[in-house]
Amino acid sequence: MKDMKMNRREFLRKVTVAGVGAIGFPYVVPSSALGKAGNVAPSSRITMGSIGVGGMGTNNMRAFLSQPDTQVVAVCDVVKASNEYGHWYKKGWQGAWFGREPAQKIVEDHYAGESPSRRYEGCGAYNDFRDLLARDDIDAVCITTPDHWHAIPVIMAAAAGKHIYCEKPMSLTIAEGRAMIEAVRRYGAVFQTGTQRRSDQQFRFICELVRNGRIGRLRRIITTIGPNNKEAPAKDWQPTPVPEWLDYDMWLGPAPWVPYHKDRCLYTFRFGLDYSGGQTTNLGAHQIDIAQWANGTDHTGPVEVEDRGGEFPTDGLFTTATKVHFRARYANGVELTCSTQEGGPLRFEGTEGWIQMQKGELTCQPESLKTSVIGPNEIRLYDSSDHHRNFIDCVKAHRETAAPVEVGHRSVTICHLGNIAMMLKRKLHWDPEKERFVNDEQANQMLSRSMRSPWCL
Ligand SMILES: NC(=O)c1ccc[n+]([C@@H]2O[C@H](COP(=O)([O-])OP(=O)(O)OC[C@H]3O[C@@H](n4cnc5c(N)ncnc54)[C@H](O)[C@@H]3O)[C@@H](O)[C@H]2O)c1
Repeated sequence: MKDMKMNRREFLRKVTVAGVGAIGFPYVVPSSALGKAGNVAPSSRITMGSIGVGGMGTNNMRAFLSQPDTQVVAVCDVVKASNEYGHWYKKGWQGAWFGREPAQKIVEDHYAGESPSRRYEGCGAYNDFRDLLARDDIDAVCITTPDHWHAIPVIMAAAAGKHIYCEKPMSLTIAEGRAMIEAVRRYGAVFQTGTQRRSDQQFRFICELVRNGRIGRLRRIITTIGPNNKEAPAKDWQPTPVPEWLDYDMWLGPAPWVPYHKDRCLYTFRFGLDYSGGQTTNLGAHQIDIAQWANGTDHTGPVEVEDRGGEFPTDGLFTTATKVHFRARYANGVELTCSTQEGGPLRFEGTEGWIQMQKGELTCQPESLKTSVIGPNEIRLYDSSDHHRNFIDCVKAHRETAAPVEVGHRSVTICHLGNIAMMLKRKLHWDPEKERFVNDEQANQMLSRSMRSPWCL
């Protein structure tokens, strides 16, 4: 990786000396064309590629575009351009266009707006993420593909010497998460999971209160998640033609081949078990991540998990849990529950009080906790108030981020354990050191999945 970095720096120096035209490389432009990003010397500017520029990927890309010392030089999506995402999103996004061409335009318009010439053509657009990863002028990538497409690009990006911002839920299976950790460590990548509550001061405060015993000894953590919020096409759904703007085979990637239907892909992939763990992992990755932070169990997990009445659909296109309910227990006796409840709380109960966050409002008992001050000799947790900025700062300093790879993995592991327990409908014993179920081969089979050729971990 060091060598690659040297190459890039050397390359940029040569570009500056020779001028872009002389080298003929289209994606590195003179500083003068870059507006604010151009005020930062190329040697201290972080160049980025965005892989997956649908709803959240476009948000992430905009967040990186707004960093003055970051230059987005490439985007990648298997969708050329589509406005079929919009109706699943917030009202303001209805009919909005996403995909690689709209993303490329956002980037180029952004830099053009900052450039004295009002012109900028310096963002590559790719269908295949391997072409983006092959560019040695890219320092870091932001991966916002569906969950079944996190592990492989992360591992390949790490091997290509890139630093990585990867969306939550970090993995589709527990085995994938462990492989991602190994790759990130082996190649020395800086890694941020997109669990942005780790950069929210209010959640940090709650976790510090719990960690410093302000509610006594922690006994119970209640996490709640929203329901499967979309209607699936019913049992007799029919395949529809693949639109010309989508590389469907590449969208499916390692997932089993199945006929196309639009509700399989954009946004609604999160309700199909081949691509996601459903709301258990989609929303659970946020809630349970804070539970782990408050419990001080970032590098381990529970020892027991059991179904409490989870339900899965019996027909239709969607296959993820329609009702989530499971319970886990940690070795320290703390119990964690996770259940479907629209607008429900994240709540910590201890021997001397409780504290909860619900719809953005913090409530607690005793009330005085709200103004409690964490002293200099008490436990202080990682301090970040901007998740994307934190990533760039950490890439520059080569230090650990607010939500590093093992943290992302351990949080989503609990969501995966919950799904497995709800599917098997029994209590399971988990060894968080070995990351295996105890005496349960059927459950252990569910730690990984086979991948469709040619894809493999
Ligand atoms: N942190 C958060 O709060 C937050 C919020 C929303 C979504 N997310 C996460 O972001 C990820 C994407 O979710 P979304 O809602 O943006 O979905 P989306 O369907 O809107 O976007 C995913 C994009 O990835 C593209 N894609 C699929 N396979 C690809 C491949 N092989 N190479 C390149 N692009 C590919 C799709 O075409 C699509 O444009 C999910 O993991 C989701 O959990 C995180």
